[in-house]
Amino acid sequence: MKEKSTKSKLWSGRFKQETDRLVDEFNASISFDRRLFMHDIMGSVAHAKMLAKVKIITKKEADKIVAGLRSIEKEIVSGKFVFTAAMEDIHMAIEGRLIEKIGALGGKLHTGRSRNDQVALDIRLYLRDAIREIEGLLKKVRQTLFECARQNVDVVLPGYTHLQRAQPLPLGHHLLAYYEMFGRDGERLEQCYGRVNVMPLGAGALAGSPYPLDRQFVAKELGFSGPSRNSLDAVSDRDFCIEFCGIASMVMMHLSRLSEELILWSSQEFGFIELSDAFSTGSSIMPQKKNPDIPELVRGKTGRVYGNLIALLTVMKALPLAYNKDMQEDKEPLFDTIDTVKVCLEILSPMLRTMTVRRERMLAATKGGFLTATDAADYLVKRGLPFREAHHVIGRVVAHCIEKEKVLDELTVEEWKSFSPIFDRDIKKAVSVKASVESRDVEGGAAVKRVKRRLKEIEREREKGAW
Ligand code: ARG
Repeated sequence: MKEKSTKSKLWSGRFKQETDRLVDEFNASISFDRRLFMHDIMGSVAHAKMLAKVKIITKKEADKIVAGLRSIEKEIVSGKFVFTAAMEDIHMAIEGRLIEKIGALGGKLHTGRSRNDQVALDIRLYLRDAIREIEGLLKKVRQTLFECARQNVDVVLPGYTHLQRAQPLPLGHHLLAYYEMFGRDGERLEQCYGRVNVMPLGAGALAGSPYPLDRQFVAKELGFSGPSRNSLDAVSDRDFCIEFCGIASMVMMHLSRLSEELILWSSQEFGFIELSDAFSTGSSIMPQKKNPDIPELVRGKTGRVYGNLIALLTVMKALPLAYNKDMQEDKEPLFDTIDTVKVCLEILSPMLRTMTVRRERMLAATKGGFLTATDAADYLVKRGLPFREAHHVIGRVVAHCIEKEKVLDELTVEEWKSFSPIFDRDIKKAVSVKASVESRDVEGGAAVKRVKRRLKEIEREREKGAW
């Protein structure tokens, strides 16, 4: 006989032996699902009220159950409640304590309910709140990007493709690119919220309930858009968790790309920005070092959020309907994803706000690298040369500059003319960085006046409450 480790469980009726000590530990989710306590209680309160409404229990009984649940909530919040592995999970911990507190009546709470629909409810309630918080943080990040863009609307830096200098851009335009990304993330979260916001209680273990439950009442009571449509689906669905983790991965991918640029830009090689001391760290050995650990960590944490998505997809991939205990493995990846995205979003705004933009370094970098070579080609095209030929001519001009160690700006009109008779004095202006930026005057383009127009538009969106 195995050692007896715990007193009887709420479900122990058909068992002759106590569970093994190892099983208690292995089977328990209480160490991580205890964070659902508030939502579990919220769901139980609504369920108890509904049981009274449809006369499965009396109003008085419901009141006692609700009062008991409220006092358990207080115990947990104040830290008085001691959690043990033997309690298995948060649902049994609270139900067990309720019975301890109010006696046999506590045992009526679980009428018409299973832990399978209960846990689905709890996760949905919890995730709804988490989504709202993350939406709020995304808005803050967008506001910061907007403000930084406005302050730096005419600071010009090289834009890159293949990490090679390509064409000059205003920093405002660059920052607003991230504004757009996080805007799409916000839209995705809002759509996800709609799919999270469905009420599963009443699905029971899997087939629904034999009691005349008022599912509409519970849905309304808890602010859901309505009850789920299929009991099997309701207890076996974790799509909404996976969808959320997918969106969170996208948010992290965006954060990571921005972080990567901040890391590069704060290197001595670029020198485009300096992160404030408050958001940098030193080296334990090299006294001269100021390291961008914060954006590096955001970039690094992206890996765990992607990993969580894959973990969840893998847990679910071969599960037959309906609930399987494998699904208890949904919580840690989900919670870790929520926590990680939140801290990363939180730290980004103050880091951006306090960084120094070194505009002279950015501008200086636009002088090298032949950033306006495309403009020189366009000059020829506007005067009738087919683009392919123009591209070739300017390629030769660039090769000449490299040989002579000159930048395009420094070529004389005579030198230009030696490559094509089409060139005239105004080529000098056409290849200036300022003219290049201003020429990108299409909708969504980098011309400063276009960027300013977008900033105005955003301001109007903000007045309408977009962020
Ligand atoms: N702790 C469980 C989980 O997180 C709750 C549901 C348990 N249901 C069951 N039939 N054993 O998935």
